Amino acid sequence: MAEPKSTDLMEKIVSLCKRRGFIFQSSEIYGGLNGFWDYGPLGTELKRNIKECWWRSMVHHRDDVVGLEASIIMHPKIWEASGHTSTFSDLMVECRACRRRMRVDQIDDLLQEARFLKPLEKLFNRFSTKRTETSGKHDFADLGAAMSQWVKMEGRGVAPNLAAVLDQGLSVVALQRFSGDDPIQPQAFRDFLRAVATPGEKQKAGRLNDPCPHCGGELDDPRPFNLMLKTYVGPVESEDNKTYLRPETAQAIFVQFKNVLDVSRQKIPFGIAQIGKAFRNEINPRNYTFRSREFEQMELEFFIKPDEAIEAICGTVLQPSGPAHPGEPQPNWGWQIWHKYWVEERLRFYESIGLPRNSLVEYWQTPEELAHYARATVDILYKFPFSKRDAQGELAGEELEGVAARSDFDLSQHQRFSGKPMTVFDEDLKAAWPKVEEAKKTVLLQRYFETRRNYLSKVGLSADRAEKHAREDADAFTKGYYVPHVIEPSAGVDRLALALICNAYSEDQAPDEKGKLESRIVMRFHPRIAPTRVAVFPLLKNKPDLVQKAKDVRDLLQQYMPVFYDEAGAIGRRYRRQDEAGTPFGITIDFDTLGEKGPELQDTVTLRHRDTMQQDRVKINDLIKILFEKIR
Ligand code: GAP
Repeated sequence: MAEPKSTDLMEKIVSLCKRRGFIFQSSEIYGGLNGFWDYGPLGTELKRNIKECWWRSMVHHRDDVVGLEASIIMHPKIWEASGHTSTFSDLMVECRACRRRMRVDQIDDLLQEARFLKPLEKLFNRFSTKRTETSGKHDFADLGAAMSQWVKMEGRGVAPNLAAVLDQGLSVVALQRFSGDDPIQPQAFRDFLRAVATPGEKQKAGRLNDPCPHCGGELDDPRPFNLMLKTYVGPVESEDNKTYLRPETAQAIFVQFKNVLDVSRQKIPFGIAQIGKAFRNEINPRNYTFRSREFEQMELEFFIKPDEAIEAICGTVLQPSGPAHPGEPQPNWGWQIWHKYWVEERLRFYESIGLPRNSLVEYWQTPEELAHYARATVDILYKFPFSKRDAQGELAGEELEGVAARSDFDLSQHQRFSGKPMTVFDEDLKAAWPKVEEAKKTVLLQRYFETRRNYLSKVGLSADRAEKHAREDADAFTKGYYVPHVIEPSAGVDRLALALICNAYSEDQAPDEKGKLESRIVMRFHPRIAPTRVAVFPLLKNKPDLVQKAKDVRDLLQQYMPVFYDEAGAIGRRYRRQDEAGTPFGITIDFDTLGEKGPELQDTVTLRHRDTMQQDRVKINDLIKILFEKIR
């Protein structure tokens, strides 16, 4: 079973987030709403900075990506085409007694937190090592007595609906199953747990079930639960008016692909980026903001030519040649190298905003794990404090982003469902095709035809129709037409905010005004994403000249970056407050700034660095240049 997840560190982080105004529970004064979160003043700035950094690196710093901002509610057919209506579900179980619902794949973790788990484990361990002196066999009478005792003392409170609590004869009968095990293996505890959780009749039929982690009750059989949040458009709540809050931003990009292509003067390969809200009716929102019901995504759909087109145009398709970043994009790149390129670009991005490479994991999904549309997917994981640990005790990491090679599945689906063509015309392919050798033409066409036929059969066309349509597609290909393929780096803003908060949190010792060491909490955010970039302090608030000069410096800097001005309290305390907020730089205006100690220091300030606490004397005129280098 999995390691316990909640850690002291997470508790400290959650408490700091509330205390300093990073994250609040949504609707808190009404008791909160599970899976929904609000961002306070610092959290709001952090999220804005994350989104701005992402947009700069994915859109503004490139010539081959443009933006989109689509509506959250879209035509319901989109979700049929994308497969969300039929397949976007988790397996869920419901407790027959307390009616709580949970995801099947989370039962292990929830059981770890169950209040009855540890006492039952203790009882089982005692029993499994103890034998009677005469026969050397396990003593069931002893276990029965111990169970009765536990039920009376604790069981009714912590597991009121556990079968063995409701029927005390059950545990001894159920446990006879272990008599052959000599000695009983420690992993048999899970069987024991199931045995005391499953009513007698069911056990006779040879079935054992896990208990409900909340009350010990019996769990129903698993069934799929669709995660999309429904709503109705217009005044009538009918099936015809039903649609969904989007569960991902990606589909809007696919359905607007043709419009964007027409207006943006882009050619394949190029990408469309979007940042926006997404909604999923998660069965068990968990781990603070990590799995929420409302969250933001930052998605890029990067459209590329099919490999057959590259081979026709360039002669060969370049493949990735090792673990390193493949460098600047080239015309002969096929989907695999584009996929590798985007994984590496995204890892670089995370490092550029302060997540160290060793806090990230690049996880290649196995063929069994791949979504129905994906040829390959790399999950970029961050080692959150609540992540599970691997066999070596290392944090395994939880998903921050998925980089998927989605083939031409999405555009092809929207082409079928909408009846509107999603093909592009590629002049280079049209020009190259007549010059391709005949033997190669045959090979490429056969490959293109088979890929299209496979896709069409997979989505339910009869063999004849799939064959016919694939032939038409292959014919169009020879004239320069194809449906583009896509590589999708898809990241969550809120998960990244949480990762940056976890990564930034640290505690150390710093001297107070009298030089005595005291503990401090420091949020070591990278200056690029820190909620406040710089704080400005007059040394004393009762000296009008100092205050005026400090306000002048604040006004100067505020034109370029968010500044926090603070004149209240001892300077050391003001530094500490900014350390907790994660402000990387502090500027203090003192009597030297006013030139009271000589003209050479006039109009200089102290610039304090949050992490080292080092203080430099710098000219006010140099501040913008110095700070800009750090935050851009
Ligand atoms: N278009 C592909 C897609 O949506 P996904 O892996 O389901 O793929 C992409 O989601 C990213 O969105 C995840 O890596 C994660 O960062 C974020 N995300 C997904 N579900 C989330 C949830 N319930 N709460 C917070 N973030 C979530």
